[in-house]
Amino acid sequence: MNLFVVVATAVWLMLPAYIPNNAAVLAGGGRPIDGGRTLGGRRLLGDGKTYRGTAVGTTAGAIVAVVLNQLNPTVADLLGAELPTFPTLVLVVLPLGAMLGDITASFLKRRTGRERGAPFPGVDQLDFVAVGLIFAFLVAPGWFLDSFTLPVLAVILVLTPLLHVLTNGIAYVIGVKDEPW
Ligand code: CTP
Ligand code: MG
Repeated sequence: MNLFVVVATAVWLMLPAYIPNNAAVLAGGGRPIDGGRTLGGRRLLGDGKTYRGTAVGTTAGAIVAVVLNQLNPTVADLLGAELPTFPTLVLVVLPLGAMLGDITASFLKRRTGRERGAPFPGVDQLDFVAVGLIFAFLVAPGWFLDSFTLPVLAVILVLTPLLHVLTNGIAYVIGVKDEPW
């Protein structure tokens, strides 16, 4: 597999995990998941993790995966290489895992004294990928090992932080996000 195909495969596989965070930013608001509860004097998760953001983010990611499955033959043809098709369970747990990874990161941020919106370098950029990938592996191990080859995983680890910084920077500049991370 040449590098271009590896990068295309990595982006293809991770789009259903990349979209949820961005969709959540646009949809956020309403009741926080922690209902205002605190732990050790700090919020459990904070106002930045809402039911609406989580539901919309997960749904948006699953829709993206369904659309990618529909587009698969056409794009694979253009690319001149095969692209993975998302199994039904994976197209749900990849975005769900991404959202839960982000929520877990907020839990850790609050426990380590970081206020809502504070940056947590490294964790902010990779939390969603880590949990999304673990969930995909758990529901479809065979498919996971076939699709996420070592080169693809390596590209995901390098590209994800870059894409995360880029999309959040754009969201900040156009005014839909309060901080650029
Ligand atoms: N959002 C949401 N529900 C989620 C994730 C995000 O509603 N599960 C929305 C919130 O409006 C949030 C915004 O998207 O403020 C940006 O997300 P993020 O940067 O993850 O949250 P922060 O507000 O920075 O809070 P935290 O410090 O907990 O990450
Ligand atoms: Mg944030």
